[in-house]
Amino acid sequence: MSHSITFTINGESTTLDIEARRSLADVIREDIGLTGTHLGCEHGVCGACTILLGGQPARACLMLAVQADGATIITIEGLSDGDKMHPVQKAMHEAMSFQCAFCAPGFLMSTVALLEENPNPTPDEIREELSGNLCRCTGYQSIVDGVETAVRIIRGDES
Ligand code: FES
Ligand code: FES
Repeated sequence: MSHSITFTINGESTTLDIEARRSLADVIREDIGLTGTHLGCEHGVCGACTILLGGQPARACLMLAVQADGATIITIEGLSDGDKMHPVQKAMHEAMSFQCAFCAPGFLMSTVALLEENPNPTPDEIREELSGNLCRCTGYQSIVDGVETAVRIIRGDES
């Protein structure tokens, strides 16, 4: 049976008829075409599918799309302002935080949420807060460096 749901995604109101069994991640990727939300484990472990739901990080693979009815969602595609990268994107790029970058969308969304809550995290707090996101390539130090670069950019210490 299909259900009509409406949510705002990256600033655009979207109404869809979807089956109740479908995950939010699948709907975002397949119905809306925003494939920047990656799917790794599909059971809540890797964090690749992290989006912001009402400003909070959420795993889109663990949610049914019908649960997002009425919600405000931001995906990785909604971070930049046109051609202007979000400070966290700019910082991760400058710090060369990623290798294959499969994990990058999830880390970026988690980092945006982290810095909203705590604009000046210590390295330990960064590691703790991002511990729900897995990266198979980097060993994480370059990602922590990227978050610290983002802190400096947002604070105005770097342009
Ligand atoms: S794909 Fe959602 S947590 Fe891994
Ligand atoms: S850079 Fe490859 S999984 Fe993180």
